[in-house]
Amino acid sequence: MLLRQGIDAIVLEQRDEAYVRARVRAGVLEQTTVDVLDQLGLADRLYAEALRHDGFYLRFDRSTHKLDFHADTGRNAWVYGQAEVVADLIDDLKKRDRPVVFEAADVSVDGYLTGRPEVAYTDGEGRRRVIEADFVAGCDGFHGVCRATVADRIATAERSYPFAWLGILAHSTPVTAEGMYTAHPDGLAVHSMRGPHITRQYLQVPADTDLDAWSDERIWAELRRRSAADDWPELETGEVFEKSLAPLRSLVSEPMRVGSLFLLGDAAHIVPPTGAKGLNLAVSDACVFSHAVGGFYATGRKDLLDAYSDTALDRVWQAQAFSWNLTSMLHRFDDDGFDWPLRRARLQRLVDCDDDRRAIGHVYLGLPFPTAWRYE
Ligand code: DHB
Repeated sequence: MLLRQGIDAIVLEQRDEAYVRARVRAGVLEQTTVDVLDQLGLADRLYAEALRHDGFYLRFDRSTHKLDFHADTGRNAWVYGQAEVVADLIDDLKKRDRPVVFEAADVSVDGYLTGRPEVAYTDGEGRRRVIEADFVAGCDGFHGVCRATVADRIATAERSYPFAWLGILAHSTPVTAEGMYTAHPDGLAVHSMRGPHITRQYLQVPADTDLDAWSDERIWAELRRRSAADDWPELETGEVFEKSLAPLRSLVSEPMRVGSLFLLGDAAHIVPPTGAKGLNLAVSDACVFSHAVGGFYATGRKDLLDAYSDTALDRVWQAQAFSWNLTSMLHRFDDDGFDWPLRRARLQRLVDCDDDRRAIGHVYLGLPFPTAWRYE
């Protein structure tokens, strides 16, 4: 987005290119995210390869319901792995003669309070290099250098959960045409996909779960048990070729800017995976940031830079509210007799009440934000 506005930018990445291209992450893109990629001319492969979904399926009490948000909004959710989005960005930067600098080690950020920020790193050949810039965009995640650099100057609101998501990728045919969340008294099961014969599935498990204790057979048995329905065929099993465990966490740090160092995406906030907002929020942060920086270079205005944190945080907290709503409805939280009947009542409401379903769908497909920029 910066290069498109004629603003020079350099992307540093700690890992090597093969690692980044293969790193498995979520894969549900909001319509809003797809619109941004489309405007950048980066959606050709996405349109050819992605799966276009109307919403998702919701299953509970052995019954299956399709929540069709497309019918309500005319918009879609798109299944396209995060690694594919990243690959398209890497290829585009290469084409524009600004290739990603991979294997950048020992990165440090200085001068962000004096208006003369510098980013130093050691390149793949072991040479120390320094980049002088006007702005630093910290897009390096929760464990990255940028967040650590300003840790003393930001305040963090956080909620943790007593459970994690055990995720698999498997060679099996999806049983639903679109993703499905199954709420079961014992916990959530997610049935998602990456293609006609690849499924991406998740199970709610205790936070202290040992992945080695979950054989493929045990995972399939639990997925099938939780997902069993009277109105649908059983899950198809298949070879599991990736297995991972992800803790759930909700976290927001404020402000998202300290001097000329800006935090974007997971460097500033984390959402639980329910509803798949993480990547999408990073894209909207990047839009808000690029708009603010673009305005500065186009007209000298600083108000958009000053508003960056508040503007981004408005959308971040909307996403937190959405993710919390879905997370609390779909996961088992308590052993008391209230947990399941309360969750079931909320789920039934989404099936019975058009307004409640629309409210969820509106955020699921992406709250709008300005992507066509004019500076006056
Ligand atoms: C997927 C990820 C999610 O976080 C989710 O809520 C649904 C699907 C996925 O990886 O396909």
